[in-house]
Amino acid sequence: MCGIFGIITNQKLSLGKVALEGIKRLEYRGYDSCGIVVHYNSQLLVKKDAGKIDEIHKKLKLDDFPIDAKLALAHTRWATHGPPTKLNAHPHLDCNKKIAVIHNGILENFLELKAELKMKGHIFTSDTDTEVISHLIEDYMSSQLDFKEAVAKAIKRCEGAYGIAICHADCPDYFIVVRKESPIVIGIEKGKTSYCASDIPAFLPYTRSCYIMDDDEIAILKAGDVEFYELDDLSKPKDKELQNIEWSIDAAEKGGYDHFMLKEIHEEPVALRRTLKIPDEKIAELARVIWGAKHIYITAAGTSFYASLAGKFIITKFLSKYIEAIECSEFQIQLGDSLQEDSVIIAVSQSGETVDLIEAIRWAKDKLQKKIKIVSITNVVGSSLTRYSDHVIVTQAGPEIGVAATKTYCTQVLTLSLIALKIAGFRKILSDEDLKKYYQALFSTPNIIEEFIGRNSDLIKNVVDNLEKSHNFFFLARGISIATAKEGGLKLKEVACRFIEGYSAAHAKHGPISLVREGFPIIFIAPPDETYQRLVGNVMEFKARGGKIISVVVDDDEVITNLSDATIRIPQPGNKYYSIFSPITFIPALQLLSYYAALKHNLDPDQPLNLAKTVTVH
Ligand code: M6R
Repeated sequence: MCGIFGIITNQKLSLGKVALEGIKRLEYRGYDSCGIVVHYNSQLLVKKDAGKIDEIHKKLKLDDFPIDAKLALAHTRWATHGPPTKLNAHPHLDCNKKIAVIHNGILENFLELKAELKMKGHIFTSDTDTEVISHLIEDYMSSQLDFKEAVAKAIKRCEGAYGIAICHADCPDYFIVVRKESPIVIGIEKGKTSYCASDIPAFLPYTRSCYIMDDDEIAILKAGDVEFYELDDLSKPKDKELQNIEWSIDAAEKGGYDHFMLKEIHEEPVALRRTLKIPDEKIAELARVIWGAKHIYITAAGTSFYASLAGKFIITKFLSKYIEAIECSEFQIQLGDSLQEDSVIIAVSQSGETVDLIEAIRWAKDKLQKKIKIVSITNVVGSSLTRYSDHVIVTQAGPEIGVAATKTYCTQVLTLSLIALKIAGFRKILSDEDLKKYYQALFSTPNIIEEFIGRNSDLIKNVVDNLEKSHNFFFLARGISIATAKEGGLKLKEVACRFIEGYSAAHAKHGPISLVREGFPIIFIAPPDETYQRLVGNVMEFKARGGKIISVVVDDDEVITNLSDATIRIPQPGNKYYSIFSPITFIPALQLLSYYAALKHNLDPDQPLNLAKTVTVH
């Protein structure tokens, strides 16, 4: 969950500046400390400290290194082993200060290795698992192995997940990168400069040519060139396919917005339009696999799980088959031996790197091998998830930098909806006219969101002003909108630090309602679907107990509007064709509410406390 950046060049570049900008673009992965090491004149020059990158830069001038330096590694940290302090910040050096290591992931056996190295006299200066790696390499080099061999030998002893970059003071012409279960991409400007990073946007301003590293691979990066080896076989380099990345750099910059979160909400219409262009054959391929399955599971974490809940509802409607939704961290423990042959698992993940999801999928694959199919929906080409999947759709949201997932949620629900309608078409359960109307509604989602965003910011700011003093919230709904309530609630929780319960409006009577007092805010998600009448009853129950009712409704809504203290109106027709896709069109209202609530409470919506965008530890 940390961000790694490395560069080696034969050009005249301000390496400190490029490395600083590189980790700034990865700051969403962790932001409690950072550091840079630059190789210069057979020495490793290190600057690191605890705090956010900008604060540390102010103090240490992170871009100020000798202008003719050619190699730098940089790191932004999300603390796992040891608190965020200067000593625990990366890079971590060996005893002789010749080897520098930056690391994303966790070494599970670090205590054992640390004890062994301490016995041999190595002196440790941090609480981290990472520091073990530099000392272990040092140890192997002291027994006459060269740098590359020592790295391979050391890494083979490390259990756990890692993306690691390592340089050596005596090796000015290359640095080494290894990967197992933590993402690493290599960018190449042929003949000039090579980069490594935890994520593509870090080097997107310089190159779109990149290699995606596989597990147990070791890469030797030289200026403008790279060689890949299997960790087990350093004798001959491997062939690997160079990929051309289509993302534009604008997508990874704030582009005039105050925050990535706001920018990414505004990008939703474009992200949806691009996702609607996913080739029909691709949608049909996944739809066929799901339609033909005996048992269907859908699994994910966080926002992607709530997108899955919405998707499950929509697919079930047109497939008439039960789909079991299970959080990925619970997948193995809940299913155990009951996981059935001829099943399909739909795995949903923005990053494609969430470790609990990867573990769930790998467990299922190991257990049932070819008798189970993995269908994934992710936003990142070549991510780990894609490698364990039989069928993949890449959503077209573009890079999402804000820690709070926004546009990727919409594109995930959209993709699942496209699959659902395709299944409806295969099964011929709808008249042509009906199917056409559902497609029309789905294809209108970008326009609805565009219109909504264009006209509603001030109204939402007003709602936020009125809720300023509230610390606890309910987000209530019925049917498909429970997914919207949970996701909207998660947004407010993570970026505005309010306590929320996203819940079924019906079920809330069985306990949660006892919390309601005069002025307790309850956000009702109320599209005019088959649950609407009963939801009216729930709104009245909460209003009767003094609840402050804020509702999200369609433009021509009357009944719930009249019961509400404030309404946010979504510009869409009030019929079933549109209501089923309301998880897509209603969510921007709740995302914007959370965004403005974060600002109201002086919080940075792009960097919520304690979070990192990609969770690569259990
Ligand atoms: O990359 P993934 O979609 O697998 O990530 C899953 C969650 O970690 C993620 O959605 C998280 O809940 C976000 N902070 C939500 O805004």
